[in-house]
Amino acid sequence: MLNFANKTIDETRQGEAYAGELATDATPGKRFYIESYGCQMNFSDSEIIASILHTEGFGPTRNVEDADLIFLNTCSIREKAEQTVRKRLTEFKKIKKQKPSLLIGVLGCMAERLKSKLLEEEKLVDIVVGPDAYRSLPQLIDEADSGTKAVNVLLSREETYADISPVRLNSNGINAFVSIMRGCNNMCAFCVVPFTRGRERSRDDASIVAECKDLFEQGYKEVTLLGQNVDSYYWVDPKTNHPVDFAMLLEKVAQISPSLRIRFSTSHPKDITDKVLHTMKAHANICKYIHLPVQSGSTRILQLMNRTYTREWYMAKVKRIKEIMPDCAISADIITGFCTETEQDHEDTLDIMRQSEYEYSYMFAYSERPGTLAAKRYTDDVPEEVKKRRLDEIVKLQNSLSLETNKKDIGKVFEVLIEGNSKKSDQQWMGRNSQNKVMVFDKIENSLLESGSFVHVMAESCTQGTLIGKIVNLS
Ligand code: 5AD
Ligand code: SF4
Repeated sequence: MLNFANKTIDETRQGEAYAGELATDATPGKRFYIESYGCQMNFSDSEIIASILHTEGFGPTRNVEDADLIFLNTCSIREKAEQTVRKRLTEFKKIKKQKPSLLIGVLGCMAERLKSKLLEEEKLVDIVVGPDAYRSLPQLIDEADSGTKAVNVLLSREETYADISPVRLNSNGINAFVSIMRGCNNMCAFCVVPFTRGRERSRDDASIVAECKDLFEQGYKEVTLLGQNVDSYYWVDPKTNHPVDFAMLLEKVAQISPSLRIRFSTSHPKDITDKVLHTMKAHANICKYIHLPVQSGSTRILQLMNRTYTREWYMAKVKRIKEIMPDCAISADIITGFCTETEQDHEDTLDIMRQSEYEYSYMFAYSERPGTLAAKRYTDDVPEEVKKRRLDEIVKLQNSLSLETNKKDIGKVFEVLIEGNSKKSDQQWMGRNSQNKVMVFDKIENSLLESGSFVHVMAESCTQGTLIGKIVNLS
């Protein structure tokens, strides 16, 4: 769904790479520590949770030893993601032994999937809260404080947390994530999300635009609109009865200022419309990048997955994107080793990757999730070593595709939003172009450039993951 690194995401690393701590000053009173796992939506939810706790007088801490409350905002998408959380919980047990008053809470998708079972399985968990029940956290903390095990995993058809101003965590002050909808109605056969995050519902457009405007006024330069399936965003203003679809929302956000960049994730190939593509084209500040999960290149597997499109339909969508925006980058999610996948199906996936020339892919071995349609209907019959070999082949192909697309960019000039120093040197900047490609380039002495500045950079060389360039003129 919502990832931004050009590599295969192995869940253990995902936990580490994404493990977020809090970043504001610790205030007196009770302190909470929160770690987030999984997709960007979870990170965005942690900012809502921080806001709810903050209003109740809880202060954040970066240091787990100082915490009175430890929260894990968890992910259930693959089994490994859950294993990572369980491992982390056993580490927290040691701290709790030293400090019995400490409360440990499991939030998010794993809380929703396992419900009160988590309290029985993980003896030292005190609080279990699903994604739609964060408003009840203060009461649940009270209950847990008085010794009751506290659980709220009610899913809602309305909750969007629209009125809550997120407390930005671990923010660089440049990029922010804004949730525009919650849940998913798609029922892809492999996916646990419809069960853990419930029915799809959109947030009112006015609160989204106001949040983005506020971010811009605070100095943020880029907002990413988040949803499991952003193209099915739909809101009807109760006063005017006017409907707002995703293209209209994009336009409203783009009009806040030409110098606010807009990204979004994730698009479902069946739902992204020409109207959205034309809106992207019409606004220079809407980034030319679409995350368009394919999952498989085999029509037979796509049908089993309940993706509701064929290989040909997907290819036509890619073609349409390139017709309307030749400079638009496309990335995909790919699952290998889904139930009954043959060598021919796997070849079809490799082939659709070549045809689509993805700039990036997020590639996963199929992991059966209890309760999903696939778990109920099909057998997870592709052996682990076959999944692994096919995944290796997919990763290798993606690496070469990424290198090829980067080579094609050499000699081109891109507008880059500077995000900070490059990993290797403080004499170099790192930023991203509209296509979401990382660019690294030397700093210029005595220039006024800083993190958050826009600058034009010519790509001169590349690796598979990075364009290396030089500044050609200041934006
Ligand atoms: N096994 C492997 N990968 C999965 N994804 C979702 N469910 C599973 C699963 N059971 C992948 C899909 C999705 C991405 C966020 O995670 O590719 O788009
Ligand atoms: Fe899961 Fe499919 Fe919904 Fe994505 S679109 S969250 S893969 S059900």
